[in-house]
Parts: sequence; structure tokens; C-alpha cells
Amino acid sequence: MLKIIEFILADPDATHRLGKYLGQLLPVHSLVLLEGELGSGKTTLVQGIGAGLGITEPILSPTFSIVNEYFEGTIPLYHLDVYRLSPVEISSLYLETYWEGLEVSPGITVIEWASLLPNLPDRYLSIAFSFHPKGGRLVTLNQVGSTQLIDFTVLSCWFHQGEYPQ
Ligand SMILES: Nc1ncnc2c1ncn2[C@@H]1O[C@H](COP(=O)(O)OP(=O)(O)O)[C@@H](O)[C@H]1O
Ligand SMILES: [Mg+2]
Repeated sequence: MLKIIEFILADPDATHRLGKYLGQLLPVHSLVLLEGELGSGKTTLVQGIGAGLGITEPILSPTFSIVNEYFEGTIPLYHLDVYRLSPVEISSLYLETYWEGLEVSPGITVIEWASLLPNLPDRYLSIAFSFHPKGGRLVTLNQVGSTQLIDFTVLSCWFHQGEYPQ
């Protein structure tokens, strides 16, 4: 099974559609760690994940609130942004509560600026964005851990055909 896949997202719509595809397929307890500079497309992807889950309320960046919780979709979405936090502050928040789903309803947890996390679990989907010279974004998806969350074969086919999920 493919564990790493890399392709170009030509415009914001492609980023949104990748997110929507993931939102339709990711199981409960999924943890998605987003990397990439400011403006690289992280929140756009989460908006797509929300669309895939059937969430209609606007998904806004949780830079100031740290976490936004959405219960309107097929499964809960926990959208976190740890940009403004120090590792000590992050540790004190027990964010693992979200992906363990023991004290909250199990759902999908998505974290922006995940490289700031002091401890990582042993299973997650990492998605890294970088700016492409032609204007779009280069995206790298990496499934870390023994269990596969997503079958990348479909995404790989779409990319090679120059199409994205609808
Ligand atoms: N694949 C893409 N190509 C070009 N622009 C994109 C792409 N994906 C997202 N964008 C645009 O980049 C800008 C910043 O996106 P955003 O999701 O807010 O980034 P971040 O959360 O990483 O700061 C938005 O205007 C968004 O429409
Ligand atoms: Mg953002």
C-alpha cells in the first residue's frame, strides 16, 4: 500500500476537493497533522474536510480560539490551531483527549501547525503544503504508523489523470 503521495494542487478548489475526499473517507479517531507556512492552504483543506462531513456552518481559522468543534456532520470535527502556543502550553491542554475520543465524542481531529506539538501519537496522517513556483501548492500526504487511514491509490490515479475528486 502507498504510504506517501505527493502532487500539485493547482488552485484553492483543488485543495478544497482533496479535503472533501478525506472528509468522506477518514474514520473516527483519525488525526490529521497539517504543516505549511501561513497562507499555504491548511484552513482551505479543513473547510473541504468539513464539506465532506456535511458541515454547512462556516469553518473559520481557530488561530485565536485554539479549537473549534463541529457536531453538525456525519462525525464530529475538531479543528485545532496551535500556532500561538508554546510546547509547555500545548502539553498542559491534553490535546490527545481529542484523538483518543474518550472524554469527547470520537471524531476527526485536524491540527494546524502540528510541528509545534511536543509529543506525537503513533498513528496519524501528515499533510504538508508548500508554495509551488507556478502558483499552486505542492502537497505531501504521509501516513505514519502501522494502520492505513486512507487508500492513496485512488488519489494517485486522480493525480496522474490530471483530475481531482469531485
Ligand atoms: N492549491 C492552491 N493554489 C493556490 N491558492 C490556494 C491553494 N489552496 C489554497 N489557496 C489559497 O491560499 C490562501 C491561504 O489559504 P489558507 O487555507 O487560509 O492557508 P493557511 O491556513 O495555511 O494559512 C487562500 O486565499 C486560499 O484560497
Ligand atoms: Mg489557517
